[in-house]
Amino acid sequence: MSTTDHPRVAAVVIMAAGAGTRMKSSTAKVLHHLAGRSMLSYAVDAASALDPDHLVVVVGHQREQVEEHLAEVAPQVVTAVQHELRGTGDAVRSGLAGLGELTGDVVVTSGDVPLLTGDTLRALVEAHRGEGNAVTVLTTIAPDPTGYGRIVRDGGEVVRIVEQRDATEAEQAISEINAGIYVFDGAVLGSGLAELSDDNAQGEFYLTDVIGFARGLGRRVGATVLTDSVQAQGVNDRIQLSALSAELNRRILRRWMAQGVTIVDPGSTWVHDSVDLAPDVTLLPGTSLEGATSVASGAVIGPDTTLVDVEVDEGAHVVRSHATLAVIGPGAEVGPFAYLRPGTNLGAKGKIGAFVETKNATIGQGAKVPHLTYCGDATVGAGANIGAGTIFANYDGVTKSHTTVGAASFIGSDSVLVAPVEVADGAYVAAGSTITAPVGPGELAVARGQQRNIAGWVARKRDGTKTAAAAEAALRGSKPQTNENEDGR
Ligand code: UD1
Ligand code: CA
Repeated sequence: MSTTDHPRVAAVVIMAAGAGTRMKSSTAKVLHHLAGRSMLSYAVDAASALDPDHLVVVVGHQREQVEEHLAEVAPQVVTAVQHELRGTGDAVRSGLAGLGELTGDVVVTSGDVPLLTGDTLRALVEAHRGEGNAVTVLTTIAPDPTGYGRIVRDGGEVVRIVEQRDATEAEQAISEINAGIYVFDGAVLGSGLAELSDDNAQGEFYLTDVIGFARGLGRRVGATVLTDSVQAQGVNDRIQLSALSAELNRRILRRWMAQGVTIVDPGSTWVHDSVDLAPDVTLLPGTSLEGATSVASGAVIGPDTTLVDVEVDEGAHVVRSHATLAVIGPGAEVGPFAYLRPGTNLGAKGKIGAFVETKNATIGQGAKVPHLTYCGDATVGAGANIGAGTIFANYDGVTKSHTTVGAASFIGSDSVLVAPVEVADGAYVAAGSTITAPVGPGELAVARGQQRNIAGWVARKRDGTKTAAAAEAALRGSKPQTNENEDGR
């Protein structure tokens, strides 16, 4: 099973120079995402599982984009440029050009086959070595083989691969297809590539013609049939991209369910490859977990919630909310309808409630921001209570400033805290206040107009209205007479 008593794979060449015309995109095909990562990054991961001496990605079309992406996500990878797209044989020739003479096994894969795993590649290399092949092709049985190269066999051996456009009617009826993933004897590949001709329907140098070359040397060519045929599927258009992306998501969800995560509706739940979930997490319908999100045991997320790069601690609940780059402490409650922007840090058992937006805000243990608030550039102390409709006015049109609310302080509803400003521990702010100066410990700040009542105003200014009638009745000490009451309803 292990490759330890064998030499390492000499090189993996990932072909990714193609034009990807059918994507109709200004983004290179292999940079399109599934489960939060580029197709190419999955191909690089699978190749890396072989721990080859060289890992080369062949770039061509939109190559600056592809090179930039690789430098970011896989700096260990070497790129080789295919200047003219003259077919898969030419692509591999370009890939190997910088590596000199190779002895040992060379694996060839594609940048647009994202579900292929490292385990499958390892098994292919094992089969290649076990059977003493010069070439081993990964194949699968396709319900609709149209467009793929067909595997022409003679008993257990592969005689050749014929492309759709070059195939006879009888060959087109073959349902075993070439996945485009191979192991070659490096020396055979090197001399075979030098002999390729472009005399075929597409005028391209076909990598698959190396098979005929190997057989001409009297060497064996084998095939490994993949039963999990989804792993062999390539992406050429956005319909295939969405199908494989849904399949990858199903596989990710199954893995988490097997590890003890409850997922009520897998059909409407999307979890990126990079997310980490603990046992006894519950995901309700309509949940999307993206990027470096992690969710600890006992937490319940959803319904209808998107978390991007969010840490959710044990037992927290997040309901119908959207959060990015935030930390939600143990036992904390978020939502429904909360918007947590980057830098939000909600303490243990804290609350960010309905129609609350937070940004760059540290909300202490047990502190509550329950309703209709904007809380930006703020520190809210443990156990503080922020009344409904409070606004942290952090921006004067030029600079952003900070607001501090001390521990166990109480901000009355509909207050405005104009930053920079500090409310000390154990202070009160009266409802409807606009706070522009510091409030000390134990103080009540009242910053609003004094209330003034003008007697008799309704009778003088609104005579004949139902309000005036109600006032008159109230002043007489009897109930107002209304039509509704006369009807007895
Ligand atoms: C190739 C195989 C076909 C197989 C299919 C699997 C050949 C001749 N045919 O078909 O048997 O069933 O893959 O998907 O090899 N590429 C380059 N440079 C090029 C041409 C292609 O880098 O000049 C890359 C593409 O970006 C892609 C891969 O090679 O990643 C396969 O190319 P594509 O054109 O999709 O495959 P076919 O030639 O149609
Ligand atoms: Ca082609």
